Amino acid sequence: MSEGKYKPEYPRVAQLKTAEIFRDYLKKENIDLDFVEELSQGNSSPFTKPYQTKAGNSIGNAFCILPMEGWDGTTDGKPSELTKRRWKNFAISGAKLLWGCEAVAVRHEGRANPNQLLLNDQNLGEFEELYQMVEKEHQGAFGNTNDLLTGLQLTHSGRFCKPNSKTKMEPKILYSHPILNKKFGLPDDYPVMTDDDISSLIDDYISASVRAQKAGFKFVDIKHCHGYLGHEFLSAYDREGIYGKSIENRTRFLREIVAGIRSEAPGLEIGVRMSIFDWVPFQVGPDGKGIPSSQGNYAYAFGGDSSGIHEDLSETFEFLDELKNLGIELVCTTAGSPYYNPHIQRPAIFPPSDGYNPPEDPLHGVARQIKATAAIKKAYPEFYVIGSAYSYLQEWLPNVGEFVLNAKMADSIGLGRMVLSYPDLPADILAGNNMKRPKICRTFSDCTTAPRNGIISGCYPLDPFYKKMEEHDQLKAAKNK
Ligand SMILES: Cc1cc2nc3c(=O)[nH]c(=O)nc-3n(C[C@H](O)[C@H](O)[C@H](O)COP(=O)(O)O)c2cc1C
Ligand code: SF4
Repeated sequence: MSEGKYKPEYPRVAQLKTAEIFRDYLKKENIDLDFVEELSQGNSSPFTKPYQTKAGNSIGNAFCILPMEGWDGTTDGKPSELTKRRWKNFAISGAKLLWGCEAVAVRHEGRANPNQLLLNDQNLGEFEELYQMVEKEHQGAFGNTNDLLTGLQLTHSGRFCKPNSKTKMEPKILYSHPILNKKFGLPDDYPVMTDDDISSLIDDYISASVRAQKAGFKFVDIKHCHGYLGHEFLSAYDREGIYGKSIENRTRFLREIVAGIRSEAPGLEIGVRMSIFDWVPFQVGPDGKGIPSSQGNYAYAFGGDSSGIHEDLSETFEFLDELKNLGIELVCTTAGSPYYNPHIQRPAIFPPSDGYNPPEDPLHGVARQIKATAAIKKAYPEFYVIGSAYSYLQEWLPNVGEFVLNAKMADSIGLGRMVLSYPDLPADILAGNNMKRPKICRTFSDCTTAPRNGIISGCYPLDPFYKKMEEHDQLKAAKNK
């Protein structure tokens, strides 16, 4: 599936031209989203609101750049020129919180692709340079860095590891998943990581955190989202041993990493990006639209109910209680997984090549994440909460974002795909400029389709730099397969 073969059945956001048309459409479709009609200007805009974390880090405004990898590091895990270009764009975007920049593996075997960044001793110098480059670029563009908070997202890709070849999965799993094992060709008795493996991995997270601090990063994100290993712990309901079954056991991984960081890297702030809800994996249905891969009770959706297609945040709240007890203040929300239910993770009008046509207007996906994030912010006002999945809003992104901030449904608006196509969107909104329409992300999903086909990620349709690359032709060929 890809744009070209697929004719979307939902109106394009660009067609919802006026506030009245947009509001009527949301009402007709029962989409629970609200927005301000006129954006506030200058200091009265909630996007300008600064924040100081309890750990003493300053965040100069309410825009956050979400982590996004480009599948473009060197095979030994160092940043390439393409990586640096992307990070530079994040640095000069105008956002004052850079959440992790991109997923960085803590050990080789846990890399999601052979070009994922890897934070080991050999690469420490390059990470220091990367951090310094971000500071320098931000300083050059905005004249200061004292209110720029840059963190690093640490990860192990678990079920989705491909450390050595773009085409060979080398999964590390915590339990046998009845649907995902099958979907990705693993036998039911595929070996699970042992408690000893986990314990040595925890040491790697702690060592990587020490290095991140040495490199200059002010916080690390212990990633718990998108079906990767951290997230898989949360649904390890069947796993034997000290990391499975009870919520206490399923959060032990996080607790042990946090304890190690507190002792080995004092002063380093910790954040958690989490899939606050999950659903059953989806697959292509008879008409090309996504349908649930199983009917009936589904037991593995952390933050979901047994239907597999609705949220139940009660365990999410238990996890957040744990974060509170651990003194963690920075929480970035997301949902599901790009590998098995992308429409709830990154709502898009055109599906990625390994996805399915959207089974709902993607605005529902946006509204769902905003609503669940608001429930968290309401229950835990002491967290600094960053929401995700705003890119699909396109022209309406600032209007919905301002409404969310005014209503205290989140503290910061996270931007993913939109900054790949339109890197200086935050700066434009903060300056009161109109959005530049040709740069608005139209959710073509090429930045996901490319890596699914072994090609570096980037905004091929809208970023002139990627448009003229030879990879653009490879991508076109892959989409026409
Ligand atoms: C190309 C690409 C790479 C991504 N890489 C990461 C990543 O490394 N870590 C992560 O937590 N999320 C990653 N994401 C998810 C985004 O951070 C974000 O949650 C998602 O795109 C939805 O936000 P948006 O609607 O603003 O795009 C990635 C998304 C895209 C499109
Ligand atoms: S390829 Fe560009 S336009 Fe398409 S989803 Fe990604 S950022 Fe948006």
